[in-house]
Amino acid sequence: MRILFLGAPGAGKGTQCKRLSAKLKLPHLSSGDLLREAVKDGTPAGVAAKSFMDKGVLVPDNILIDMFRERLSSSSCANGFILDGFPRNIAQAKALDVLLEDLKAQLSCVINLEVDDRLLSDRITGRRTCGNKTCAAVYHLKFAPSKVDGICDECGSALTQRSDDKEELVMARLKTYREQTEPLIEYYDSKKVLHTALGEGEPDQIFEDILKTLNTNCLIKQ
Ligand code: AP5
Ligand code: MG
Repeated sequence: MRILFLGAPGAGKGTQCKRLSAKLKLPHLSSGDLLREAVKDGTPAGVAAKSFMDKGVLVPDNILIDMFRERLSSSSCANGFILDGFPRNIAQAKALDVLLEDLKAQLSCVINLEVDDRLLSDRITGRRTCGNKTCAAVYHLKFAPSKVDGICDECGSALTQRSDDKEELVMARLKTYREQTEPLIEYYDSKKVLHTALGEGEPDQIFEDILKTLNTNCLIKQ
């Protein structure tokens, strides 16, 4: 299965993709996580990306396209994958079409996770992430708190706040999403692969709804 998630910043793409990845045993490719790793490691892509991420705007397309060309062609993606955050504009979607054509593959399903704008800002500013790269568990101060304040339940490392999760950047990120990423809803709808899932309420319930959607429309085995 080749699944793609769309959704605004804070919609819960990472939360749901992580669960789906464990359930379907498919790699979860998050563009944001890959970029943040590149920034941390100081790779040329990371150095080039940082200033764009710090402004809440899109990193140049060629960086993402190169990154995903390499990942999608690797053997770990031979049985499928779950894309989160790529593509993020029409140019990237067209580049993905070409990549998939080269691999003689096609998307099985695009899930658009819908969440009311009023919930997004709280979700983004309250997010905390485990600083241990191999763990990277995600928490929320209010909606999914760790047992001990500031400490990861899974591995005991300190929790950190993403540098772009500050209140003052939320509006810029939402604006970028509306202008550049939202048009992908129509792009994939016209290809008859788009399905909408409500991203509000309990994460467990949202996950069940996503599984139902995939099962009905993409014939997965649960
Ligand atoms: P990226 O890392 O992709 O950020 P994003 O799209 O803004 O999305 P988020 O990761 O903020 O949200 P999410 O939907 O994953 O939500 P999550 O599950 O964590 O991109 C960052 C930057 O990288 C971009 O701004 C851009 O600069 C660059 N970039 C990335 N891809 C690019 C591309 N293709 N091209 C160019 N540039 C690119 O949940 C959020 C919080 O809410 C968590 O704390 C979670 O615990 C909580 N939560 C989740 N579900 C629920 C629920 N149901 N109820 C209550 N709380 C919940
Ligand atoms: Mg994410």
